[in-house]
Amino acid sequence: MAQYSRITGTGSFLPPRRLSNADLAAELAAKGVETSDEWIVERTGIHARHFAAPDVSSSDLGVEAAKRAIDAAGLQPSDIDLIIVATSTPDMVFPSAACILQNKLGIAGCAAFDVQAVCSGFVYALTIADAMIKTGSASKALVIGAEVFSRILDFSDRTTCVLFGDGAGAVVLEASDTPGILASDLHADGRHVGILCVPGNVSGGKVVGDALLKMDGQAVFKLAVGVLESAARATLAKANMTDADIDWLIPHQANIRIMQSTAKKLKLPPEKLIVTVDQHGNTSAASIPLALDASVRSGKIKKGDTLMLEGVGGGFTWGAVLLNF
Ligand code: ACO
Repeated sequence: MAQYSRITGTGSFLPPRRLSNADLAAELAAKGVETSDEWIVERTGIHARHFAAPDVSSSDLGVEAAKRAIDAAGLQPSDIDLIIVATSTPDMVFPSAACILQNKLGIAGCAAFDVQAVCSGFVYALTIADAMIKTGSASKALVIGAEVFSRILDFSDRTTCVLFGDGAGAVVLEASDTPGILASDLHADGRHVGILCVPGNVSGGKVVGDALLKMDGQAVFKLAVGVLESAARATLAKANMTDADIDWLIPHQANIRIMQSTAKKLKLPPEKLIVTVDQHGNTSAASIPLALDASVRSGKIKKGDTLMLEGVGGGFTWGAVLLNF
């Protein structure tokens, strides 16, 4: 049985339709909703996001990211023996996006399931895959974050619809004799269900309740800055490491102000903070693997670097994974 699991390949995929803040503001203005590039940039750091075409699902985006990660790992789809998809916008009620994606990859037989932890989904999924590899249930796992959040946005609510985007990121996590994932720390506090939710459901063949995203932005903001620091510190303590050991901080890409405040609390210089929220918006479970892949492919993140990945989101959920890349 392998002692460790290690990321051996990364991949990502963005749907081609890119909307700058000005593009989105113009579309919203036509519906009588007022916003501006200036407001969005100042409050969030977001300049643009990508939206998927109406017939494109999370598994469509996820499978493209997965193929790139498998390729980067030097593997074939048939080598994969576990698929976990973190998503809050699955293709259908069931089966899981992971099963649909498995079929699109042209493979069958390996375990495949979704994880629902909203914007913390990827760190949850990575932690599960790590545990399954360490206990011998898998040896070559595909861990994917894939979302089409544009489907659940209320485009009459300017406080939320300017924040989110669509996309997917993936990693291949393999059994290894040398350390990759060093420690992780996951949490949830269901008392805060109401501050960030899509409260609708399907019942009797109809959508019951409101199936659009609701968020109390300030409540989320306050909780996020506190838990991102505590999760990072708990993870470092488990690995007997300190802030100074972190080469790159990859927090959930929701808001530049939350991300910068976390980096400051961890005494990290701004240049160690990976930022893609400016170009992707908040892609929920996809944001961390998208940011990771972009930084690996640009040459910023190199083999051997120590990474702190941090998720926070609806639930309320949060968590961190510390790893040697
Ligand atoms: N354009 C122009 N004006 C706007 C917009 C907009 N898009 N949205 C809100 N405003 C206005 C408001 O109406 C308000 O106007 P008023 O003062 O006249 O009433 C003013 O701007 C301030 O609004 P606030 O909501 O107080 O703005 P705030 O500074 O709190 O920023 C934001 C809002 C960006 C949502 C912030 O609270 C935030 O980032 N929260 C955290 C969100 C987050 O991190 N989510 C992560 C988890 S996501 C997940 O799990 C799916």
